[in-house]
Amino acid sequence: MESTIKKLISKEQIDQRLEELANEIDRDYKGKEIIAIIVLKGAAFFGIELSLKLKSNVQFEFVKISSYLGTESTGKINNELDIDESKVNGKDVLIIEDIVDTGTSMDYLIKHLSNKNPKSLKVCSLLSKPSRRKVNVHIDYLGFEVPNKFIVGYGFDDEKGLNRNLPFIGYKEV
Ligand code: IMP
Ligand code: MG
Repeated sequence: MESTIKKLISKEQIDQRLEELANEIDRDYKGKEIIAIIVLKGAAFFGIELSLKLKSNVQFEFVKISSYLGTESTGKINNELDIDESKVNGKDVLIIEDIVDTGTSMDYLIKHLSNKNPKSLKVCSLLSKPSRRKVNVHIDYLGFEVPNKFIVGYGFDDEKGLNRNLPFIGYKEV
């Protein structure tokens, strides 16, 4: 089926929002060292661009979980790349995610990382789709709320694994 990509949020809007989020994070973590845990693959783009705007001391870790088959959440989480407890124990941990959709993945990640005894654990997500929520999760730093559309671009891929590298946030209209 033919599908076209509509622009939802421009690169200029993303850059400006990232600047605001970075300032907020720097203020909140003053004098602390942040362990930023970037959730692969989607949040790699957001995580890196946000990090470049941070003035705080940051260490980077990556985790990889997946719950999607095509465009539908399976509800079951696969932990494909985990993080050692020593990297989290007693640290100020900030999860950097691309989107909180049903909330299943983030709920899992929060519980999973909490078990590794961080000193603090916060969530930064570029997008949230509140209309799709099944599990309630608190987002400490949120970029944008988006409508119930299938998002592509700026890290978000489609069912074929494509369109992550579009320099804007769009959605697919079928
Ligand atoms: P959740 O567990 O339903 O909250 O899904 C979270 C994960 O699904 C995110 O980390 C994304 O990787 C993926 N996802 C959710 N919505 C979209 C979308 O609209 N486009 C692309 N990926 C999405
Ligand atoms: Mg993801």
